[in-house]
Amino acid sequence: MEEKKIRRIGVLTSGGDAPGMNAAVRAVVRTAVFLGIECVGIRRGFQGLINSDFKVMDGNSVNHILSRGGTILYTARSDDFLSEEGRKRAVTTCKMLGLDAIIAIGGDGTFRGALELSRLGVPVVGIPATIDNDVGCSHYTIGFDSACNTAIDCIDKLRDTMQSHERCSVVEVMGRNAGFLALYVSIAVGATAVLVPERELDFRRDVLERIQNARLAGNTHFMIVVAEGAAHAFEIGKRIHEELGMEPRVTVLGHIQRGGSPSARDRETATRMGYCAVKALAGGQFNCIVAIQDGRIVELPIEEALQMKKTLQLERYDVLEAMCNF
Ligand code: F6P
Repeated sequence: MEEKKIRRIGVLTSGGDAPGMNAAVRAVVRTAVFLGIECVGIRRGFQGLINSDFKVMDGNSVNHILSRGGTILYTARSDDFLSEEGRKRAVTTCKMLGLDAIIAIGGDGTFRGALELSRLGVPVVGIPATIDNDVGCSHYTIGFDSACNTAIDCIDKLRDTMQSHERCSVVEVMGRNAGFLALYVSIAVGATAVLVPERELDFRRDVLERIQNARLAGNTHFMIVVAEGAAHAFEIGKRIHEELGMEPRVTVLGHIQRGGSPSARDRETATRMGYCAVKALAGGQFNCIVAIQDGRIVELPIEEALQMKKTLQLERYDVLEAMCNF
């Protein structure tokens, strides 16, 4: 692509919010200001581009947001952007505001939207942020660590009461179609069993035998973690009751996992990614995603990046198994 001097950029957050999105917005705005680039915040993701919903941002407009969860730019999943008409209106807004590029913070859905924009001539850079950690091109996504910590905190509390009553707990965690959150959290809380979408469910092997083995090892309370993409926690609880006669308590953690102050890892990663995104643009690199590969930030061409797959390391499943029958 022909190199063009970047004078003004837009930044937006899209899809499900994630702790650390604000840290990324702050880093984008401050790096831009530092490099003499003007920055415009687009509210409500791609819908904001369509509706020309924006605010001009300076270095001080992002004061005190580093530690805040959610996103000050608001977020949305825009149906209008799925139509050609909607996308054309978004491009018109970019032209009208004089935006030389858009930095889009979100997950795969956000990057597919960004790719469409790039095809219409608007240069883009993507920053991976989703609690699901399911962006194929990046080993890590902003928000994942904070969501794990929130889930762990909740499950530790559940364990106190489950232990006291010698009960079985079935906890459903988010993650959409991916089991990253469920598997990492299960190891961190010492769960009795975990169900993830990447591993076909065998109820007897994966749930009943795990509870029975734990019982034989002397345990009197049991923690079953279910990824929302693998099964419904209430269904699993019902089947445990039918098969073993226990009376499990079911908890769906839900959106609480998306809130809260970002962890150190998310603040630091988001700040570096935001910085690298603006540096990439300033250096003439467009239509890419700033991704983490083997601990380093790399810029990957967006089209290629969207084809990349990341697999859940099921060896972690074996690690959990080795830990639980004591
Ligand atoms: O992608 C993030 C996520 O929280 C998923 O884990 C979950 O399946 C989904 O978003 C929930 O979406 P909504 O906020 O629209 O209910």
